[in-house]
Amino acid sequence: MRRISERTTNSHYTLSIFIILIAFIFDTAQSIRFPDRVAQPARDQSDQHHFQTAVFALGSFWRSEAVFGCLPGVVRTTVGYSGGSKPNPEYRSFGDHAESVQVEYDPRLIGFRELLDIFWSSHDPRQVYGQGPDVGNQYRSIIFVNGTEESRIASVSKEQEQTRSRSSIVTTQIQQLGAFHPAEPEHQKFELKQNTFLLQLIGNLPEEELERSSLATKLNGYVAELCPPNIQKHIDAKINDIIKKGWPILRDL
Ligand SMILES: *[C@@H]1O[C@H](CO)[C@@H](O)[C@H](O)[C@H]1NC(C)=O
Repeated sequence: MRRISERTTNSHYTLSIFIILIAFIFDTAQSIRFPDRVAQPARDQSDQHHFQTAVFALGSFWRSEAVFGCLPGVVRTTVGYSGGSKPNPEYRSFGDHAESVQVEYDPRLIGFRELLDIFWSSHDPRQVYGQGPDVGNQYRSIIFVNGTEESRIASVSKEQEQTRSRSSIVTTQIQQLGAFHPAEPEHQKFELKQNTFLLQLIGNLPEEELERSSLATKLNGYVAELCPPNIQKHIDAKINDIIKKGWPILRDL
């Protein structure tokens, strides 16, 4: 797992102490306050009927969620267990399932093919029985498909990936999506939850709101430094700007 660097965490920590101090000093004027919570922007709820979902398994789901979270057109991500037969899987016993991420996206902004490009470039589909330091069947590589058209697109895409090199086999499976079992709350937006400064910055959302929030979805990728470089920079700038203005609430990106 990649972690936000200690240096960044420390500087964010120092900054938040500084902001809290300022807030304390100007308390009577109530000029700077961390809100307890911020209502979700209304557009999170709009246009839902246009959204589609895709599910992928590509190693640790903490990282998988961050990989897809800040792509333009991705509105929400959820980690869970899929691809197996065990009923009611849990983190300590999910049997034959794979760690998976469900990606909710707006097909007007991003397509299944583009999600597949990100899928291939974000893990090693030729590695057998694990990804990097994560060893086990739960980390296997799977594209879940819904129907024949997605199945065809996935097959073509896998064949293209295989032609990049013939010296090893692309192990990725293509499976019709059965049940997707969402994982426990502590695994959702796992990367973002390591950064209390950013959690404060978006208003310390309650768990259910955090899991539904498009903003949290994006920041989860940002914290893991897995956003496309231009988006990573954009979010950096936005956060710095808020800090400079001394009004530490991030409502959207
Ligand atoms: C699968 O596709 C059908 C029709 O294209 C859609 O109604 C359904 O919601 C999809 N299922 C999932 C799990 O995305």
